[in-house]
Amino acid sequence: MPQKTEQESSKALDSSFESLKELQLLYLFSSTLLSTMQLNRLLHLILSSLVYEDNALFCRSLLFLYNKKTNALQGMLAVCRTNADGLHLVSKEPDNPLSGHWELDELEMKKQWDSEFCAKVRNIRVDLNDDCVLIDELIKERRLCHFNTSELPANSGCDFLVDLGINAFAVVPLLTRKNLIGLIIVDNPFKNQPFTSKQLQLLQLFANQSGMAIENTRLYKNLEEAHEELQTTRERLIHGAHLAAIGEMAASISHELKTPLITIGGFAARLGKMIPEGDRQRHYLDTIINESHRLEQLLGDILAFSRKPTICYQCCDLKAILEECIDDYEATLIGHKIAATTDFKNSDWTVLGDSNQLKQICINLLVNAQEAMPGGGELHLALNEIEEGGCRKIAVTIADTGGGITEDLMDRIFTPFFTTKRHGTGLGLAIVNRIVQNHGGTLTVRNLENGAEFSIVLPKLSSVSCGR
Ligand SMILES: Nc1ncnc2c1ncn2[C@@H]1O[C@H](COP(=O)(O)OP(=O)(O)OP(=O)(O)O)[C@@H](O)[C@H]1O
Ligand SMILES: [Mg+2]
Repeated sequence: MPQKTEQESSKALDSSFESLKELQLLYLFSSTLLSTMQLNRLLHLILSSLVYEDNALFCRSLLFLYNKKTNALQGMLAVCRTNADGLHLVSKEPDNPLSGHWELDELEMKKQWDSEFCAKVRNIRVDLNDDCVLIDELIKERRLCHFNTSELPANSGCDFLVDLGINAFAVVPLLTRKNLIGLIIVDNPFKNQPFTSKQLQLLQLFANQSGMAIENTRLYKNLEEAHEELQTTRERLIHGAHLAAIGEMAASISHELKTPLITIGGFAARLGKMIPEGDRQRHYLDTIINESHRLEQLLGDILAFSRKPTICYQCCDLKAILEECIDDYEATLIGHKIAATTDFKNSDWTVLGDSNQLKQICINLLVNAQEAMPGGGELHLALNEIEEGGCRKIAVTIADTGGGITEDLMDRIFTPFFTTKRHGTGLGLAIVNRIVQNHGGTLTVRNLENGAEFSIVLPKLSSVSCGR
């Protein structure tokens, strides 16, 4: 067998060494992709590894992601060699070349994101329908290409590359099995050397792995979101079941208590008639009568809350309902030094609903507002038409100057039987919430500067459908 010359052996050794370095690079790249499930970090890592000084590949890397709906490419991120030096190896066995992965700190990612070049790239949107013929072709062919902008035909639609100061560049699509995800563009503006075939091969291999990794992180994110949604639905169901159990128990107790209570109140009233006014015993009886009346009302509320709701649908003018409530409650408001103002524009405020129940909503909220302002204050009621999810809706807002609701109570005030008042049942807002939901609406609350504002949004009904 012929002996290899010293020169040949050294060449073979060099070539094996080069291959080993490439393998190591590919290994590091793929373990980096496997180590991160966060899309943003992944994109930074992909672009940084392409321009990292030690890897001796390219000087700048740009990423565009594809939007299928608009058939356009959107500039997402760009990294230059100068701001990729934060890429560092994380390894449990530093002596083993085939262990570990690259990492980037948050601060380094921010530095890349904030760079002027990256901001320029993020402002670019390439419409594939008519903007860039060249990129369109390349995507159809689904392969890596390299060009020189000065050699491109005038109508190639690649002006954005010239604007970025890109001359000789390579571009590679990011693909999953069937779909285009985006593309990566790399260039070497500071070196006047053509790309080597090794560099282009590595770029292609990087791109193949990156496409799949990006798709995986997106799927993972979807899975996480679905999991979170499932968790909240589960919690809501458990909460609902608890409330149903509380409601059922409260209803049966209320039912049992109501009859004897009516009897007590009735007999006390009869006795009261036999005792002359001003008598001390009459005062005791009046207390029994008043308290049993209050308890009867409370039990009535509990039963109303627990019963299956029935809505007697009719066309309701919300403005008329609000005005009626304010009239009914005017004396109480004046007595408590509360000035009420309204902002009801002349418009159509018709909703489909049960006018008695809608009135109850308004009264419960007025009572709460009044109770929140024991020393007087201001009450403001307004009606506004809004658009939500493509539908016309009516928003009723009731705002007071009673100091608002503390953050820790915000989540609890709609829970049945939650109250901060000595004689409250904690059913007022729960009843409001239930009625609003049964009417296909939403109830929200927020704090204003001096108080709370409750908003009810109900679907608007056009007067035509009401036969007016
Ligand atoms: N306008 C408001 N300003 C400040 N806090 C409010 C206001 N409305 C309701 N709250 C808070 O929400 C709690 C629950 O209100 P909700 O109407 O359900 O019950 P309640 O008023 O305590 O009792 P009930 O209405 O049965 O007499 C109240 O106890 C109070 O702490
Ligand atoms: Mg109340």
